[in-house]
Amino acid sequence: MQPSRRDFLNMAGSAAGALGVGAFAAAPAPASPQRPGGARTDERPSPPGGQAPKPLRILILGGTGFIGPHQVRYAIARGHKLTLFNRGRTNPGLFPDVEKLQGDRAVGDYASLKGRDWDVVIDNPTTLPRWVRQAADVLRGHTQQYVFISTLSVYAKNDTLNMDETAEVAITHEPDSEDVRKYYGPLKALSEKEAEKAFPGRTTVIRPGLIVGPGDLSDRFTYWPVRLERGGEVLAPGGPTDPVQIIDARDLSEFAIRLCEDGATGTYNGTGPRSRLTMGEMLGGVRAVTTSDAYLTWVPADFLAAQSVRPWVDMPVWVPPVGDSAGFATRSIRRALAKGLTFRPLYLTVKDTLDFYQSEPEDRKAKLRAGLAAAREKEVLAAWHARKNP
Ligand SMILES: NC(=O)c1ccc[n+]([C@@H]2O[C@H](COP(=O)([O-])OP(=O)(O)OC[C@H]3O[C@@H](n4cnc5c(N)ncnc54)[C@H](OP(=O)(O)O)[C@@H]3O)[C@@H](O)[C@H]2O)c1
Repeated sequence: MQPSRRDFLNMAGSAAGALGVGAFAAAPAPASPQRPGGARTDERPSPPGGQAPKPLRILILGGTGFIGPHQVRYAIARGHKLTLFNRGRTNPGLFPDVEKLQGDRAVGDYASLKGRDWDVVIDNPTTLPRWVRQAADVLRGHTQQYVFISTLSVYAKNDTLNMDETAEVAITHEPDSEDVRKYYGPLKALSEKEAEKAFPGRTTVIRPGLIVGPGDLSDRFTYWPVRLERGGEVLAPGGPTDPVQIIDARDLSEFAIRLCEDGATGTYNGTGPRSRLTMGEMLGGVRAVTTSDAYLTWVPADFLAAQSVRPWVDMPVWVPPVGDSAGFATRSIRRALAKGLTFRPLYLTVKDTLDFYQSEPEDRKAKLRAGLAAAREKEVLAAWHARKNP
């Protein structure tokens, strides 16, 4: 039986519900130490270039996964002095000239941070409030600013357009749960509160949307450049005017470092681009970078739902802008813009994402972690072309 429009809205709603708590989550941790992403883009000038007015001592909790390396490169280019704190498992050979301290936050081991002072601490990987509390026990009184990397998934609802940072955040009745898959958004929201409690008036919260670009292991954006590069008929979801929001990891990272330089506190949605981007514009922009014969066939959201093609997961980046998800891709970034969030042009993100993908090992390239497999895409397209009453 074909799902009805109501089923579709439920599905979109449940997708949004799931998205609400987990859409903007980090990529799965790599199984083994692996090459850092984005290294080949170092030479690109980052806005604004040059040295910061005053060098800072910056401690990055994390620093070697996806966004961390981009923060480190930009901070070094700006003349700051860095320390990284992690377990030494992810990309251990990265940044041999940067000070590294070890500890495992899962077991509350922060001994290596004791007795040290930093101007700013940036906390990248944390979802659990306990991680903030325990870090704060050691760092309180030893830093002027605490920057917490949160997520747009903190928001309770996505049904309204253009919502800003004052929108209601999600809560959980199990605040001590460590189930980060189930309670990703609410736990991030609680972690934000812990940060503000531990460092009152000195906390900066950045809530990123989907982070994309070189180094991304989730493949959610990567699917599109790779798919269009492969060529042929490409299944495009929904309608060309459906809104999407993404942020290049480098733009996000540079923004975080500049907030440190400015000593800016408060909460900032961190997504992009500057003005409204549609699915059609995004895919057109991706297509323009590729050299293939790719062409798009737009398939409406309710037909995709009837085919059990899931927004965001099977058709990454895209969520149909209806019902509970109407405002999902229209978060206001006015505050971040006022504090100097800048954006690379889309073609650079696409090109560097493709370069990154091409440099990945063959086995990983063979199976992307998001998007439709080629055979399934063909099936859905065939069903669309064979539909009754075309
Ligand atoms: N991806 C998205 O689209 C998206 C969207 C919205 C928000 N976000 C948020 O953005 C952030 C992304 O962070 P990232 O992973 O790119 O940051 P990162 O700082 O580049 O990498 C994560 C770091 O955390 C360290 N780490 C992991 N587990 C640890 C532990 N138990 N103890 C100590 N250190 C540990 C890792 O090193 P070791 O493994 O060596 O310890 C690694 O250095 C996350 O907060 C995520 O929730 C992501």
